[in-house]
Amino acid sequence: MMRALGGVRSVVAAAVLSIVAGCRLDSRADSLGDDNLKHFGLGHTPSAATLAAEDIDVLPSGVGLPAGSGTPEEGAKIYAASCASCHGANGEGIAPYPQLIGGPKGRFDFATDYKIPRTIGNYWPYATSLYDYIRRAMPLTAPGSLSADETYAVSAYLLSREGLIPSGTRLDAKGLAAIEMPARKHFVMDDRRAGSGGRRVR
Ligand code: HEC
Repeated sequence: MMRALGGVRSVVAAAVLSIVAGCRLDSRADSLGDDNLKHFGLGHTPSAATLAAEDIDVLPSGVGLPAGSGTPEEGAKIYAASCASCHGANGEGIAPYPQLIGGPKGRFDFATDYKIPRTIGNYWPYATSLYDYIRRAMPLTAPGSLSADETYAVSAYLLSREGLIPSGTRLDAKGLAAIEMPARKHFVMDDRRAGSGGRRVR
């Protein structure tokens, strides 16, 4: 009996010792198990060109917009060639592709009436976001294929068709950021954390 217990004790002692020894040998600095990333030969420092290609976000303020410009007239040609097949010759949308222009103006009860078309002129809060979206996502089959000038031009075309800039306007970073979109004031910061209960917007 005593011998059996002694045996158990030494097994337990050996296990504890080996765990302690294991921890010593494998004192990890990070959850990957190695604090020397070179050990795996993974990853590399991105080049300036790679970073520039990835870093394309445009803030509502216009920060991030590239140099360049375009007019609605230039954009009309790009729209007809690269966008109309899905969004319609007049931005009316060819189902299932969304309508881009021509939604009813002056109402904002989208949350209760799902059928109201949400278009650039009645729903988008920032013209700069339109640039950002087209640049990163459109045309659907070849995102990223439009140059900076082409993106300015097609944005200018859509904004002029919505009556937000006069035809002939040469739109650049400054001009785009200066456009006050009709839906701008319908979007507010959620301030419920301040304990005010938030502002109701209709
Ligand atoms: C092959 C079809 C196709 C082509 C071509 C295409 N789009 Fe789109 N577009 C879509 C689809 C699909 C969506 C919706 C994507 C989503 O909701 O995720 C969309 C969404 C959009 C939106 C956002 C609509 C909104 O209010 O939510 C804009 C703006 C837009 N496209 C502009 C363009 C422009 C400009 C071009 C041409 C340079 C273009 N698209 C070419 C299919 C297309």
